[in-house]
Amino acid sequence: MARLDVTELFHGISFPGHLHTQDSLQRALEFQFEDTDILIVSYPKSGTTWMQEIVTLVSSRGDPHLSNTIPNWTRAPWLEHYYSAEVLEASSLAPRVITTHLPHHLLGPALQGSKAKVIYVSRNPKDVAVSFYHFHKVAHFLPEFGSFTEFLHRFLEGTLHFGSWFDHVKGWASPAAAVSNRLHVTYEEMSLDLLGAIKRVSSFLQCPLVEEELNNCGRHCSFNSMKKNKMVNYTSVPEEVMDHSKGSFMRKGKIGDWKNTFTEEQSQYLEDILSSKMEDCPLEFVWEEP
Ligand code: A3P
Repeated sequence: MARLDVTELFHGISFPGHLHTQDSLQRALEFQFEDTDILIVSYPKSGTTWMQEIVTLVSSRGDPHLSNTIPNWTRAPWLEHYYSAEVLEASSLAPRVITTHLPHHLLGPALQGSKAKVIYVSRNPKDVAVSFYHFHKVAHFLPEFGSFTEFLHRFLEGTLHFGSWFDHVKGWASPAAAVSNRLHVTYEEMSLDLLGAIKRVSSFLQCPLVEEELNNCGRHCSFNSMKKNKMVNYTSVPEEVMDHSKGSFMRKGKIGDWKNTFTEEQSQYLEDILSSKMEDCPLEFVWEEP
């Protein structure tokens, strides 16, 4: 299989060659969604894995069996990864839960007319940048950056793998993407009121939970619980793919951790870019900090 070369772009965006091929990306754009599908969409490090866990637990009514026995990339595969077609075909899970990091301008056409339920997860870009920076140290399939300053420059420029955070959030928040079957959940909301966020997801998925089921969902998708769960904490990924000595996927799980890395100047610089680039973004973001 021809893996994507590090220097190769797909529609102007670079993707890690270890999981993507030109074919797998193209196949994603032509994917036939079913009306019963649940699609989790996010820019990396925004709480994707957390939402995968919430959706699995809600669909299982708080029973952790699936989330404790099937890896997240099998029970909610990334549409654009080379193995997704095979995984989806072999899976007997219903409804299908699919994940994607693709921007709306690429995936939107495949979703047009579909009743698939779309859950978009976003996070304060400052926390995304810090989390992504650390992940670049751990993941061998991502380039390593000498300094956070250098990394931040590329993040703001939109030239990291997966493209621009601003374009991603804006695209999925655009009127073209604003259909009734879409829910927007922020990482901060999950962090500040996990049970409230689970309730919103369960009602969106038309899967109402009784109190005990809701509490079980909350317990099993807490940071501490997920950090111990090998099916979501990525500790089973071989060393040649992820260097576990450099950090863990379930790193801190906090809101506002950016303050430990950003200088005041960097923070202001990002704010300035944010207000100019997101000026016409119809979604209002609540990135509360403790
Ligand atoms: P940090 O690096 O800030 O700790 P993604 O799944 O989109 O790649 O996002 C990964 C980020 O989500 C990491 O952030 C990870 O710790 C955090 N995360 C995953 N599960 C979480 C949970 N249950 N509670 C809080 N944060 C969680």
